[in-house]
Amino acid sequence: MPVSVVIGSQWGDEGKGKIVDLICRDIDIVARYQGGANAGHTICWDDKTFVLHLIPSGIFQEGVDCVIGNGVVIDPVAMMKEIGMVKDLGYDVGGRLFVSHNAHLIMPYHKRIEEAKEKWRDGEAIGTTGRGIGPAYVDKFARSGIRVVDLLDRDLLRKKIIASMEEKNAILEKVYGAEKVDVEALIEEYVEFDKLIDPYITDTTELLCRSLKQGKRVLAEGAQGSLLDVDFGTYPFVTSSHPTVGGCCTGLGIPPTSIDRVIGIVKAYSTRVGNGPFPTELNNDLGEELRQTGHEFGATTGRPRRCGWLDLVALNYTTMINGFTDLAITKLDVLSNLDEIKICTDYVLKGKKIRRFPSDLPSLNEVEPVYVTMPGWNKDIVGITEWNDLPVEARNYLKFVTDYLEVPASLVSTGPKRDQTIVL
Ligand code: GDP
Ligand code: IMO
Ligand code: MG
Repeated sequence: MPVSVVIGSQWGDEGKGKIVDLICRDIDIVARYQGGANAGHTICWDDKTFVLHLIPSGIFQEGVDCVIGNGVVIDPVAMMKEIGMVKDLGYDVGGRLFVSHNAHLIMPYHKRIEEAKEKWRDGEAIGTTGRGIGPAYVDKFARSGIRVVDLLDRDLLRKKIIASMEEKNAILEKVYGAEKVDVEALIEEYVEFDKLIDPYITDTTELLCRSLKQGKRVLAEGAQGSLLDVDFGTYPFVTSSHPTVGGCCTGLGIPPTSIDRVIGIVKAYSTRVGNGPFPTELNNDLGEELRQTGHEFGATTGRPRRCGWLDLVALNYTTMINGFTDLAITKLDVLSNLDEIKICTDYVLKGKKIRRFPSDLPSLNEVEPVYVTMPGWNKDIVGITEWNDLPVEARNYLKFVTDYLEVPASLVSTGPKRDQTIVL
């Protein structure tokens, strides 16, 4: 019953979309298991570039079905917009896209509460994507969320929205001094989603488990990155779900014993969007150079991504948690113009060298990275597809990473397009 999981090993935007789109050619179903439209997964081929936020990155490969699992929080407006985009591009969605009846819905008040809360936090704002993710997961765990299945019963939906809105509007108005949400307009809007979303709604857990029994192969697509995991990331500067491997089982309803491959997507350097600790951040011209060369601007919000050197202490930690079986190392080409490249191998905390990734914020803010400096290759490598065609310095860089992490690389990405990849 083979399930492969694709997981961001850093703070997101590692190139998961590209890798999922590439490797799902040999897969039957691609399934998203957590997060929501906070994700931005970019897929490029020929001269085309598309960003997916909710629909799994298998949608552009014929013969691949796509599942949005119970662990995802769904913004129906964003989903319908995305379905429209995919259809306009000439891809079938009907009979290929399946949405879990158990997934929770993002409501307009989630976005409004998030906006108010971020303002409230003032200097401590998380720098969220503003997609309502946190408040939607709060409602899920507070057992007051509204689920996809609720769309199917108009009367019940109406009752649930009214019940929820009483509390939400009171919070918005009395706690945050923010504008209330118009209940009737909201009900009218969501009642309409019933018709639009109905064709896609199903019991995706049953679908996935039946498919696995039939010998079909599933690729679980993580969103965000392991260091944004609500339990294992740089809390509280994290997202509100579990991008790490455990999230795949709870977010899809598949057994852990069905997983036989866990692919860690590793960007050849580090980036982070939003606030929070980032030990190897380059707040200088070099960071700006990486941002420009790597086009490091958020695929969802357009915000400039913070850039820095590769952090093996952090990667060792996320490798440990996820049990990566192999790595896909992306954006190696972005490092091509550098005379030398640094890799962080240890931290110094209170005068002591450590390899452990600290879990508390004060320590993470305090650690000083220890670097190994490697020679750059100063040669354009965009589009290289053979290992032996890589300059020796680039091969050494990759070897240093895989030796340190004790995990082999199965793919090296040398450009944004599907075919700009070395398969090992
Ligand atoms: P995701 O969220 O992990 O799917 O990653 P994003 O799509 O947000 O960000 C990755 C960005 O890097 C996108 O613009 C991709 O098109 C691009 N990309 C992916 N792999 C490579 C690569 O190997 N080289 C270069 N130059 N760009 C890449
Ligand atoms: P993909 O799937 C990078 C970040 C936000 C913020 C924090 C919490 O494209 O890799 P949220 O809106 O989730 O409550 O924001 O998480 N964040 C991401 N950063 N890539 C993403 O997704 C992200 N999704 C959320 O910037 O710091
Ligand atoms: Mg992204």
